[in-house]
This record gives sequence, structure tokens and C-alpha cells, in this order.
Amino acid sequence: MIKRNLLLVLTVFVMAAMVLSACGGAQTPEVTEPEPVEEPEEPAEPAEELAVGIVLPTKDEPRWIQDETRFRDALDEAGYDVEILFSQGSSAKEKENVEALITKGVQVLIICPHDGTAAAAAAEAAAEAGVKVISYDRLIRDTDAVDYYVTFDSIQVGAQQAQYLVDRAEGTGNPLYLYAGAASDNNAFLFFRGAWQVLQPKVADGTFEIVNSDEAVALSDKAELTRQEEANIIGQVTTNWDFNVAKNLAEANLTVAPAEQKGDVFILAPNDGTARAIADAFAADNDVTSYVVTGQDAEKASVQYIIDGKQSMTVLKDVRNLVQDAINAAVALLQGNEPMAEGSYDNGVKDVPAIPSEVIAVDADNVQEALIDSGYYSADDFENLP
Ligand code: BGC
Repeated sequence: MIKRNLLLVLTVFVMAAMVLSACGGAQTPEVTEPEPVEEPEEPAEPAEELAVGIVLPTKDEPRWIQDETRFRDALDEAGYDVEILFSQGSSAKEKENVEALITKGVQVLIICPHDGTAAAAAAEAAAEAGVKVISYDRLIRDTDAVDYYVTFDSIQVGAQQAQYLVDRAEGTGNPLYLYAGAASDNNAFLFFRGAWQVLQPKVADGTFEIVNSDEAVALSDKAELTRQEEANIIGQVTTNWDFNVAKNLAEANLTVAPAEQKGDVFILAPNDGTARAIADAFAADNDVTSYVVTGQDAEKASVQYIIDGKQSMTVLKDVRNLVQDAINAAVALLQGNEPMAEGSYDNGVKDVPAIPSEVIAVDADNVQEALIDSGYYSADDFENLP
């Protein structure tokens, strides 16, 4: 910042001097000295261009604004100037963004697809132009035009959500409401798979009774589901990652559920935005006496909901780590090296190398330690921290 301010002041100063000397004639121009500015430690230089472009899915969810902010922080710190574009929930806009970046000469594309399958065309356009493609957070499916996948451990996200519910359920016949992400997002399948692994034995032994998906009820003896079976369940309980869809679906489920499937309920909500919408719908139902509801992303609004007792937990996915993994992978690819990998993810056509980053379950008991003491957020962002 100081560097940029100094540059600006110097530029204005030089321009002012030039204008004054051009029109000054015989008079000696009075050039006032600029206000003294703090000396930077290094000589001023503009941020270095990094031949990388970033495409994120939408500005309408705090999660992706978080990623943008963390990318900007990390890139500024490293002195890189990189373009970040948003696709606003449209695969067509996403492809335009990718084409614009290719035209500008990026050599590495970091892209979080709006729709994992539809994004294959954008990835292929990039690969044909010789651009390396890093799939960011969400996997691009059904194409070999993906070089690397930067991700959190999404199976663990679902498993931690489900474990939270299991740990709080006593006796048998506890009503369980399932909700999932968008079927166009491969992560929705991974989250659900991770959750199913933990929940299914507890449905089979009678601890839980699934209320709102007859597909899930029909499959409740099966420990491992095929992708098609997962799709059948997700099709019944999808929120499409949309707060309004989530709210309407929860209300519709509560309208048809009899009072005995309410009382003390357990809710698998896939992420924070949908969790808040679903929690509000359950809180408004007079037959619901208590609810345990999961979430994901540690969005500030949900952290406040957790402090206020309106959401039970979230899963912290430390975006700073994901951003750093993405930058490291991009730099490795630019240097002609293979980014580090610890395993791979099947995208339907190719096993894409990846390092899955760790995730942490957060509730009222560890919110201070996990989110404030760790420096992820500032205590000032919240009211009534425990
Ligand atoms: C991300 C989540 C996010 C969701 C909705 C998923 O692919 O992994 O963090 O909440 O999309 O945007």
C-alpha cells in the first residue's frame, strides 16, 4: 500500500512539474514540495504479474467472497497481481471468463466450477490453448483436461456432520431429516457419501428414522451406495445450495410430517447458508421441541447462530490453506513441475492428483479456540462469544 501511495504521489508530482514548466515561460514555476511520505523499505515497484487467472462460482454466497478475500490477501503479500472473475451461477458466464483469461495470456487457470460437468468445456478450451487447469474446491468432471485438484477432505466434512448428530442421539426412533447440496456439484456427493457412512449403521440399528426421503429409507440397509443411488436420494433432498430452496423444502417436509416425527429432531444440513434457512424453518414449527443441525464453512453469520444456540455446529474449512495450496500448485505448474499430491479423485474419466486439506468440526464449545484464537476471525466480528 505504502509503495502504491508513494508511486501515486511521485507521479502526480512529476506531472505537475512538467505541466508547470511547459506553460511557465520566463517565470520560474513555484513547485510546492509534496507532503513528506513515509519511506518504504524497498524501492517502489509495481506488483508482479503472475500468469494465473482465477474463476470463482458466485458472489452470492459468503463462502466464495471468503475465498476471494483470502486469495487477495495471499497474492498481495506475495506481491502478485492476479485477476479474479466470478461466474454468478452461470456456466456460460464461466466459459466467457475462462476465454477472457486465455486471451489475456494466463498459463494456469484456477477454477471452481459452478457446475462440475458443464465446466468440462471451459477446461478443454483452456487445455487446448496450452493452459494448465487446477480444479479448485469442486472437481471438474468427465474430462481429462484437469491437471490438479486443490480440495478439502469433503468425505470428512460429511462424516463430521453425521458424527455430530450420532453423538447427540439417545435411544431409538430419533427423527432424521436429510438435506444435500446441488446435484451439479461433485462435492454434494462427497459430503453425502461421508455422512451416509456414519449415519447408515445408525439408521439400520433404529437410532434414527429418516423422515423426508423414501429413497434413503429404501436404501437404509446398504452401507455403500452407487453414485446413481446417491443421486436418487440427493434428488429428493437437494437444496441446490440455495437458501430459498432450502427453506421451502424444509417447510414442505414439516408440513407433511406428522407430529410424532417432530419433537427432538436431527438435521443433516449440508452447509451454513442452507443450515440457517433450514434451522429457521424448524424453529418456527410448534411441534419441534429441539433440533440439532449441522453446517459447513464457518460463515460469520453461522458462527453467530452457533453462539446464539440457533445452529449446532459447522465444519471449518480453513480457506487460507486451500488458497496457499492453489498458489503453490500454480507456481509448480508454471515452473514445469508436478504439484505435490497425496492421492487422487476420480472425475469419471481421470484420477486427478490432489492433496485433501483437513477440516475441523466447530460448535459452541470450541468456537473461541478454533476460530478466534487461531486468528481466522476477530472476536469483534461476533456478539456474546462464550
Ligand atoms: C463447497 C462448500 C459450499 C458449497 C456451496 C461446495 O462445493 O465446498 O464450501 O458451501 O459448495 O457453495
